[in-house]
Amino acid sequence: MNYKISNGKILLTGPDRLETAERDLYILDGRISFGPAGLPEESFEVVDAARHLVMPGLINMHTHAYMTLMRNYADDVGFDEWLFKRVMPVEDTLPLEGAYWGSLLACMEMIRTGTTTFMDMHMFRGQSCRAALESGMRAWIGRGLVGADLYGDGLSRFRQGLEEQAEYECGRIRFTLAPHAIYSCGPKLLEQVAREAADRGMRKQIHLSESDNEVDDALRKYGKTPVALLRDTGFLDEKTILAHCVKMRGDDISIIKEAGSTVVTNPASNAKLGNGFAPLQDFLDAGIQVCLGTDGTCSNNTLNMFREMGLVSLIHKAIHRNPVTAPADTVVRMATANAGRALGLAGELGVIAEGALADLIFLDLDAPSMFPVNNPVSALCYSACGSEVDSVMIDGSFVMRKGEYTSIDAERVRYEVQKVADQYL
Ligand code: NI
Repeated sequence: MNYKISNGKILLTGPDRLETAERDLYILDGRISFGPAGLPEESFEVVDAARHLVMPGLINMHTHAYMTLMRNYADDVGFDEWLFKRVMPVEDTLPLEGAYWGSLLACMEMIRTGTTTFMDMHMFRGQSCRAALESGMRAWIGRGLVGADLYGDGLSRFRQGLEEQAEYECGRIRFTLAPHAIYSCGPKLLEQVAREAADRGMRKQIHLSESDNEVDDALRKYGKTPVALLRDTGFLDEKTILAHCVKMRGDDISIIKEAGSTVVTNPASNAKLGNGFAPLQDFLDAGIQVCLGTDGTCSNNTLNMFREMGLVSLIHKAIHRNPVTAPADTVVRMATANAGRALGLAGELGVIAEGALADLIFLDLDAPSMFPVNNPVSALCYSACGSEVDSVMIDGSFVMRKGEYTSIDAERVRYEVQKVADQYL
């Protein structure tokens, strides 16, 4: 279906900052055009976007979709109890089908709150792929890898990831290599992953320098920081996505900058697990590309990127005691255009531009939480809570229209998720 989106206020990238303009958008074969591309007007279904802000869908650059099952299940406990006594025992017994329903619930929440693309690290074969495919979402997915040797103890997970890729890869669903962290993966495996990723032209994602323990242990074991260890294994390059980067020491920031890698900050998760705050301003000053993620719902406990945008700005203004820090324009770009660049789709993903992918969200400008919209970009960062999103288009198709899902049977998902939660939590 081709669409003509009329009467909306469109969020565009101006020469210096994001700005809005009232203009028509044409959606043709999953791409955005500012004109009808030579086609007669009647070949487009008109979508009336009056009193709506139309913007690029938000991009959640770090999550674990299946974890919705454990929402509010392990809160207000220490990290070790959280991971080893609460989360891991559930993961060990959970059936694949349970992870599927949890992942589909994650897609429901993300769509409802305006996220159109997510980067997932998972441990349940194929389930987030199924959920992304069926929900209509765009995703970059990686099977979590652990072990000392990719072709030894790491082999079965590596193979699973490649099998998933062979089965599910398509325009909307792409794959990454995803070693879990430097404390669960040995240097040899990291080197092997880096080579495999280069040979296959794939992106890599990893959790990095999330806690003091991780950094102190690496210094004791390897005599270097986790960041330096990754550099020395050849893991850091412009196709590397680094989640967290909370505990930067020594030359860590300049190493990341030199490699051209992307940092994904997860403010709610880092705060909730008591790990503190990533040095966002130092990353920005160094010219590092920074994106935004929610992490899993077990450590957040939502997948709502509007909440994450508000938090990241408020947290860093508070830390620096400076209201100019992390301004709205910077933060909205972290959740949109920066992610498009990190995914190799500069100008195509996370922006509204001629020829860009048609991943769009429609926010109700009359919603009381945002009204009156004196400054649309500020409103997105400081006022919006996600409930203003009433329609969502991904790859040129509506996955939610006027609040109704078009691809997901929400009642069924709730029923199945409750069944899994009753049995396994
Ligand atoms: Ni994570």
